[in-house]
Amino acid sequence: MSEIVLHGDVWVATVPILDIDPDYPVRVEIEGEPIALCRVGDEAFALNDICSHAYAHLSDGFVEEGQLYCPLHQGSFCVRTGKAIAAPCYDPVEAYKVLVKDRMVYVSKSSVVEQKGRRLKD
Ligand code: FES
Repeated sequence: MSEIVLHGDVWVATVPILDIDPDYPVRVEIEGEPIALCRVGDEAFALNDICSHAYAHLSDGFVEEGQLYCPLHQGSFCVRTGKAIAAPCYDPVEAYKVLVKDRMVYVSKSSVVEQKGRRLKD
């Protein structure tokens, strides 16, 4: 994946925003982290792909009204913040910084590394 440096951060190119179906997330991997990319209108969002309830890939779920629904037990998360919204999810998932430039979705490498490090220390 190509990278650009902008606003003092390194951004990793993922997929063109129009390749993200508004109803279904796209799974990518950055620094070994699986990430679910979501689209709401012309905005893109990036959440850690592993559900905080049990083990399921959120990118196998669906997006509706700004929420990403888990395919296993249909808990949901806010695509903007990663906050858990619907039970049985109570803990958030990491939300990464996203930039859309020239219709390409970039994810901040530092936000991924930072969250990954935080989780490893827990
Ligand atoms: S594994 Fe996601 S809601 Fe249970």
